[in-house]
Amino acid sequence: MKKSKDGSPAPKGPDGAAHGNSQIDDGVPGGQTRREFIATAAAVGAGLALTGGLGEHTEAAEVVNDPSAVKVQVPTPPTSVAVELHVNDKVEMVKIDPRTSLLDALREYMGLTGSKKGCDHGQCGACTVLVDGKRINSCLTFAVMYQGKKITTIEGLTDGDVLHPMQAAFVKYDGFQCGYCTPGQICSAVGMLNEAKAGCMSAVTPDLSCATAQLTEAEIRERMSGNLCRCGAYPGIVEAIKSVAGV
Ligand code: FES
Ligand code: FES
Repeated sequence: MKKSKDGSPAPKGPDGAAHGNSQIDDGVPGGQTRREFIATAAAVGAGLALTGGLGEHTEAAEVVNDPSAVKVQVPTPPTSVAVELHVNDKVEMVKIDPRTSLLDALREYMGLTGSKKGCDHGQCGACTVLVDGKRINSCLTFAVMYQGKKITTIEGLTDGDVLHPMQAAFVKYDGFQCGYCTPGQICSAVGMLNEAKAGCMSAVTPDLSCATAQLTEAEIRERMSGNLCRCGAYPGIVEAIKSVAGV
């Protein structure tokens, strides 16, 4: 009769044959007893848990054993760069994150808070400034792209204490209420007149063969449509621009 390790008879199955511990004890590969097998399995499991699991361990082993595996060093981008900006006839050196928008560089690093952040998405025009006489949305562009360019903000349009003609016209024709959009409106209007003088056409210009478009009210409204005014001061804005344009 088969006996278990402690000498007692091995339990019999429904067929009357001996089963149980003796089979398990004897059937473990490598001649291990059941107890030894369980102890070994537990130790291996604990080891895997400490190394972070079977998958990770296997992967690490593959990387180490793969001769074609190359360690890629990803360069760390600079956190700040020195940028020289020519703003309102002054040269300023600022140390900024290269991802800083021109609007943030002007407002946060140079203290020029006239340009406003309305939407920060290129939709309202409150951040409009002039670069080499052309209007741009400063929230949509990086400051590092404008080194060596001539940047003009609303603060730079005045001549000392004397207002720019467009600024004076906005005051005269009530071209604002709360004033939040006004710096962008004025810079945009100055840039728009430069564009019209240079012969740029708009979506409503009736005759594209003309060298210059006549600045009608419809032309002015279309060309200024990128500058929103939540106060609805549009009639005054259009009158102010017409007076400066002489139409
Ligand atoms: S803040 Fe730049 S377009 Fe609105
Ligand atoms: S004046 Fe208030 S948003 Fe234009």
